[in-house]
Amino acid sequence: LIPYARQSMNYKDIYAVVKSLRNDLLTTGPLVEKFENGLAAVVGAPTVVVSSGTAALHAAYSAIDLQPGDEIITSPMTFVATHATAALFGAKIVFADINGRTGNIDPASVESLISHRTKAIVGIDYAGQPIELDELKRIAEKNGIYLVEDAAHSLGSEFKQKKVGSIADITTFSFFATKNITSGEGGAVASNDPNLLSRARSFSRQGMVRNPSEFKITDQGSWHQEVHEFGLNYRLPDILCALGLSQLQRLDEFKSKRNLLRDSYIRALGNISGLEFLQKNSESDPVWHLFPIFVPKNARSQIFDDLAKSGIKAQVNYIPTYWHPVFQDLGYKRGLCPIAEDFYQREISLPFYIDLTPKEQKKVINTIKSLALIR
Ligand SMILES: Cc1ncc(COP(=O)(O)O)c(C=O)c1O
Repeated sequence: LIPYARQSMNYKDIYAVVKSLRNDLLTTGPLVEKFENGLAAVVGAPTVVVSSGTAALHAAYSAIDLQPGDEIITSPMTFVATHATAALFGAKIVFADINGRTGNIDPASVESLISHRTKAIVGIDYAGQPIELDELKRIAEKNGIYLVEDAAHSLGSEFKQKKVGSIADITTFSFFATKNITSGEGGAVASNDPNLLSRARSFSRQGMVRNPSEFKITDQGSWHQEVHEFGLNYRLPDILCALGLSQLQRLDEFKSKRNLLRDSYIRALGNISGLEFLQKNSESDPVWHLFPIFVPKNARSQIFDDLAKSGIKAQVNYIPTYWHPVFQDLGYKRGLCPIAEDFYQREISLPFYIDLTPKEQKKVINTIKSLALIR
């Protein structure tokens, strides 16, 4: 079976993890800070590592002090975690449509949705390609709201020669097994705003204050630590940081491999009529995370199943989040974002990962060709 995504582990990755098991501290050991520093260099901003991309989003929303009744303007072309974590703060999710060529939030559809309750614009770097950061940042600054970037797909990507992580007010990453690098489970928050980052750190470390100069209780001994705001345990253990750190050394190699895979797909499938690809923005230099193809709506399901019958386990990214029953129960209706819905109904993510062999990719290509020919 050829999966749509898969991690790549080499002996260095394995050795790093095994070695870390001998560290004195399995949770907050020396590798946590090392991983945070390594990431900071890659994303161009200080980072705090957390236990998942979902935790990173939750911590980011806590950092911007998302409150019940606040609104976030976002696009539905994402994994539900982008919105679930905001909804759990009591925020209202306001949907803007996407640019059908990139899958990313369309800045032109954002401005008319801004209200006095809007707290943030939340964009998702679909398939690894950065959102239109300068335009979205302009809108956010003009309206005094935050720009949050869900960069779960786009570690290592750049926009206008600037690193993803250094541009939005706050950016979140995921190191889930299928992502550009993995720590098994894991995530990170990045921000060049020290206040936002420290709030994200505090939220993901139980809200615990350890610095005596910040204490409100001053009559206790040297063991003392205290909580000012509630937080959760979203720590990323040292063992997983060992893996993340090792994988991070391979990011450049991963980037070129992903570019090669994408080029091969486009070269081989480029002139099949009815088949379309995601478009690259001229301003962006992505680390491609997915390879989506777009087929006629009425053929998608059959093609997906036919791929499976040939041993190719494709994926669909994503059902518009507001189609989920949890949103339908809140009164959201289908039809809200027609471009995102059309995008979803035509999309299939082909196998796209570091260790996909030329032979396997050829098999995917030939299968797609044979399916396309009969339509
Ligand atoms: C766009 C997006 N946001 C958030 C997440 C959540 O990340 P995690 O699975 O690490 O919690 C994912 C991945 O699953 C994702 O693809």
